[in-house]
Amino acid sequence: MTTKIIGIGSYVPETVVTNKDLMKFLDTDDDWIKERTGICERRVSKDKGTCEMAAEAAKRAIEDAGIDPAEIDLIILATSSGDRAFPAGAMDVQAAIGAVNAVGFDITAACSGFIFGLHIANGFFASGLYKTALIIGAETLSKVVDWTDRGTCILFGDGAGAAVVRASETGIIKTLMGSDGTKGWTLECQARNLGNCLNGVKPELGFMKMDGKEVFKFAVRKVPEIVAKILEDAQMDPDEIKYFVLHQANLRILEAASKRLGIPMEKIPVNIERYGNTSAASIPILLDEMKRDGKLETGDKLVLAGFGAGMTWGATLLEW
Ligand code: UT7
Repeated sequence: MTTKIIGIGSYVPETVVTNKDLMKFLDTDDDWIKERTGICERRVSKDKGTCEMAAEAAKRAIEDAGIDPAEIDLIILATSSGDRAFPAGAMDVQAAIGAVNAVGFDITAACSGFIFGLHIANGFFASGLYKTALIIGAETLSKVVDWTDRGTCILFGDGAGAAVVRASETGIIKTLMGSDGTKGWTLECQARNLGNCLNGVKPELGFMKMDGKEVFKFAVRKVPEIVAKILEDAQMDPDEIKYFVLHQANLRILEAASKRLGIPMEKIPVNIERYGNTSAASIPILLDEMKRDGKLETGDKLVLAGFGAGMTWGATLLEW
């Protein structure tokens, strides 16, 4: 038994923030951002939190799948920018969509979160415990970035993407996941620091910090490595894959992967110019756009691959 994506949906906030908008309060430059990242604009949420966007994307995925929310056994919300420390945002989604028979929880694997969620569901399906799951990647990174730090804030955007998956004879062919805690310092966001009745310190929240160069070096090595490995594990050739749906972190990272793997850019879809890096949401948002653009047909072989803070990485080879 494996896992089939039977429905896909996404939601992005209405408000567009262009590079030129950023130049109004930040010492940055439209050409610099386009050249170094490929990003022209991103969406920023004025009023909807992570869970509200997640629920909206989930409703669209459920509609696409044509199922009743009561059929969902499991909800996994992948996010690094939840609305509350607890309870899990997956339960807000459960309430909003009426998935009365589901159990839900959140996972934190940064930009690899959607892929990790897919693989967790795949494990539950293999064990026979559950049949239908909702996997969501949703982020409001706009509240996590330091808007005075031009080295990070220009990269990120808000949004949500969701997939309904079901236990099936066809679907996921191979999975690959990994992490390296020694590289955690390269991209991090402090939660509340230790403050309590003993030390009298008032706990405060931190902002995202990133060593962009280190993360870049890691990504240009790791993404081609995991794509090549999953193809090797499946004994498949890149020519047999219709699209390589890669985490949208930086256009230069996607181009480096194209070059190293010898895969033409036509097979690596890109939407980073419109959304920036939406972390756990980037792969399902892209898949949803591809589906709506008529790019995906039943039986197509796809490789999904991503990397993120942790460091974490993951890849899925699947049949659509
Ligand atoms: O999901 C994972 C998330 N993270 C990533 O994927 C990040 C990966 N890293 C990157 O994408 C790139 O490292 C960045 C886009 C963040 C930075 O690009 P870079 O080519 O590594 O630039 P840099 O940090 O080496 O900076 C080059 C110059 C510096 O000026 P000087 O020292 O050469 O005078 C920076 O101060 O560009 C300057 N700079 C900027 N200039 C205008 C840095 N950020 C900006 C900016 N606008 N926003």
